[in-house]
Amino acid sequence: MCGIVGFVGAEPAAPVLLDGLRHLEYRGYDSAGIAIFSPEHGLDVVKTKGRLQALADLLEGGKQLEGCLGIGHTRWATHGEPNDVNSHPHVSEDGNIAVVHNGIIENYMEIKEFLISKGIHFTSETDTEVVAQLLEYYFGKSGDIMAAVTKVLHRIEGSYALGILCSSNPDQLIAAKKASPLILGYGDGCSLIASDVTALLKYTRDVSYMDDGEVAVLSAGGIQVYNSMMEPISKEHAHIDWDISAAEKGGYEHFMFKEIMEQPAAIRKTVFPRVKEGRVVLDDLSITKEYVQSLKKIDIIACGSSYHVGMVQKYTLEQLTRLPVEVVLASEFRYCDPIVDDKTLVIVISQSGETLDTLEAMKEAKRRGARTLGIVNVVSSSIARESDDVLYTWAGPEIAVATTKAYSTQLALLDLVGLYLADLLGTVKPEDYKSAIDEILLLPSKIENVLADKETIQYYASRYFNHDSVFFIGRNLDYALGMEGSLKLKEISYIHSESYASGELKHGTISLIENGTLVVALATYSPLFDKAMSNVIEVKARGADVLALTTVSHKTSMEKIANGVITIPDTIPMLLPSLGVVPLQLLSYYIALMRGCDIDKPRNLAKSVTVE
Ligand code: F6R
Repeated sequence: MCGIVGFVGAEPAAPVLLDGLRHLEYRGYDSAGIAIFSPEHGLDVVKTKGRLQALADLLEGGKQLEGCLGIGHTRWATHGEPNDVNSHPHVSEDGNIAVVHNGIIENYMEIKEFLISKGIHFTSETDTEVVAQLLEYYFGKSGDIMAAVTKVLHRIEGSYALGILCSSNPDQLIAAKKASPLILGYGDGCSLIASDVTALLKYTRDVSYMDDGEVAVLSAGGIQVYNSMMEPISKEHAHIDWDISAAEKGGYEHFMFKEIMEQPAAIRKTVFPRVKEGRVVLDDLSITKEYVQSLKKIDIIACGSSYHVGMVQKYTLEQLTRLPVEVVLASEFRYCDPIVDDKTLVIVISQSGETLDTLEAMKEAKRRGARTLGIVNVVSSSIARESDDVLYTWAGPEIAVATTKAYSTQLALLDLVGLYLADLLGTVKPEDYKSAIDEILLLPSKIENVLADKETIQYYASRYFNHDSVFFIGRNLDYALGMEGSLKLKEISYIHSESYASGELKHGTISLIENGTLVVALATYSPLFDKAMSNVIEVKARGADVLALTTVSHKTSMEKIANGVITIPDTIPMLLPSLGVVPLQLLSYYIALMRGCDIDKPRNLAKSVTVE
């Protein structure tokens, strides 16, 4: 989703902005641009459709623009097609004000009509241009840019992170935030803004996270933040201590492959410190035994792969806690008049911690009295800050758009949460608790075994990469696992793929199975292995080519029927998806590689989805 950077300091801004935008590329974008202010030339804007390299080429790496104050943007199109004109920055008609924006101005049509009636001409189809033009309109009345910003922020509705330049304020960059992330960076003789800390790390590790309604005025000497009443406030600073190399490829061809390989280490970091002397210890959780015992149900809210983690956890958490678990897509939860109250624990899962639907759904749950627990990867992100409790998945920065290590750490962390709650509720037998802990501690090394066999997956990818439609089938935990396997495949390889509960096939979908259709049959869940076999026989009888995923102990039986078999080590049921997802990630990766796809930045997708 759109990325913003801004810089004011003593050195030329353009190279700094290009470097910052490079670190935001992973978020997904279709065009890029920068605006630089210099006393000699006023505001200069260069923007173009396409990759950042095209912008860098136009600017000769930044040399083409002088000036130590600037804003930059990578755009993920919402209003208006991706082209040069719709790219940001957008400039007011008199050329005095330039704006970059992440989010959506929901009432932009009404404002646009108002401004047109005042004789203002628009050049783009975007919602953002109204911000630049409205700023000009109010600035023209008062000559005071801060007064104009205040008026505009009162008038616009929707979500925004804004970076604003005004030639009449030649030393300052103004930033504002509501519902879209924006981070302030306090550098040595410079100040910065960015959508994501990765874009700041080269210049500073001293940051603060803007809250909704805040406005910041940045100059080379420092940053002043104002609350929504425009009263000056002081912000808490955070120190970023992770290494920038964690967000670089480190010799791997793709971030996605690197992140798949990092999963054992990420799970160790997430899980091991939370298991002490055979017990789950969640020091960072403030819920009490009385509260847990008062619960009537658990809701899980998330989007995409994080939602698929919720689907797995429905089976696991219900099994462990004997509480009903409802998993709801965040975009649906917001508008379904959800039945939640103070007897509902709402678990909110998000890698980025910025997914707008998830954030807003969480706020809705809180409004209705529920307690919220965030399972989040990005420290101090909006969901982390707004949930009642937060448990971090220590996966490190995830750069590939398709999630892998965040998914795995979310699953593992929620396994711990399930055991923790079950222990408080008295719904897990001591021997089951012990064997679950023993197996969780073995999980990273079992994943290493799966990764070591990646050539087998590569072989199956070479056999199947030309298929144009794939079905994932499974029951229970395998059904939930299939959802993630199917999403991974479609998002990075662009192969049409669907996932079905095996038992549902005969209610319609089986009509799509014909000679040569690829069916990935997930049969890791031992209690239902025989039923999984029956479903494999069913689709084979209709001509399907079946690639099965099962555990080592079922390999021989499955080999008798399926066309190909991938195995994972045996483990307890709740951990099967954690092992099973790894070959599915690799399969998608190798298939996408063989099809020549842009693996880390798949078309149309964004890493951090900050619009509805
Ligand atoms: C798929 C993927 C997305 C995200 C979804 C939610 O590989 O990454 O489906 O899972 O956009 O994002 P977060 O977890 O950041 O809220």
